[in-house]
Amino acid sequence: MKLVGISGSLIGAKTSKAVYEVLSAVKALDFSVQIELIDLKEYEIEFVNGSPLSFYNDDTIKVVNKILEADMLVFGTPIYQASISGVLKNLLDFFPVDSFKKKVTGMITTGGTEKHFLVSEYHLRPILTYLKGTVPVNQVFIHNDNFDDDTEITNAGLKKRIQKLAEEMLSLQNSMKK
Ligand SMILES: Cc1cc2nc3c(=O)[nH]c(=O)nc-3n(C[C@H](O)[C@H](O)[C@H](O)COP(=O)(O)O)c2cc1C
Repeated sequence: MKLVGISGSLIGAKTSKAVYEVLSAVKALDFSVQIELIDLKEYEIEFVNGSPLSFYNDDTIKVVNKILEADMLVFGTPIYQASISGVLKNLLDFFPVDSFKKKVTGMITTGGTEKHFLVSEYHLRPILTYLKGTVPVNQVFIHNDNFDDDTEITNAGLKKRIQKLAEEMLSLQNSMKK
C-alpha cells in the first residue's frame, strides 16, 4: 500500500513537517506501507489552463500521477486568508471527479490563529469529498506556537491527534480492500 503526503506551502517548513508526522505515524503502525512526501515547494506545478495533462511540464505530470497512483493520501496546507493555500487548490483542480474514489484522504493544517482550526472542514473536506475521497473524521490543526524551532512538534495532545488520524486512515483504507 502506498501513502502519499502533499504539503501545500511554498514558504515555510511547518506544513511539510506536519504531513511528514502523519506519514511516519502510519508507517509506525504498518511497516509495509510505502510513504512519500510531495513538498510542493520542490516542484514547478503549472496553473490549470484546461489542457490535457500531457501538455503540462514534467513536474506537473509527475505530481498528478503520483497522487493518482497512491492508495491513500494526506493533504497538508497552511491556512491562507481563512482558506487553503492557492497552490494546493490549483493542484486539486487537475483532478477529474472520482479521482480519489476508494482512497482515504486525510487532512492536516497549520496556521497562526486557532480561530481557523475548522478551515479544513469547510474548505478542504468538500473538495476531497467532491473528488470521492474518504475523509477521516479525525483532522489535525497545528498552531504555529506548537512548532519548536519551526519544525519539531512536541505538544503531547497534538501528537495524540496525529496518532488518531493515522489509525483512522489505516483502518478506513484496510476496510476498503475487503
Ligand atoms: C499569505 C498568508 C496568509 C495567511 N493567512 C492566515 C490565516 O488566514 N489564518 C491563519 O491561521 N494563518 C494564516 N497565515 C499563517 C500561516 O498559515 C502559518 O504561518 C503556517 O503555519 C505557515 O506554514 P508553512 O511554515 O508550512 O509555510 C497566513 C500566512 C500567509 C503567508
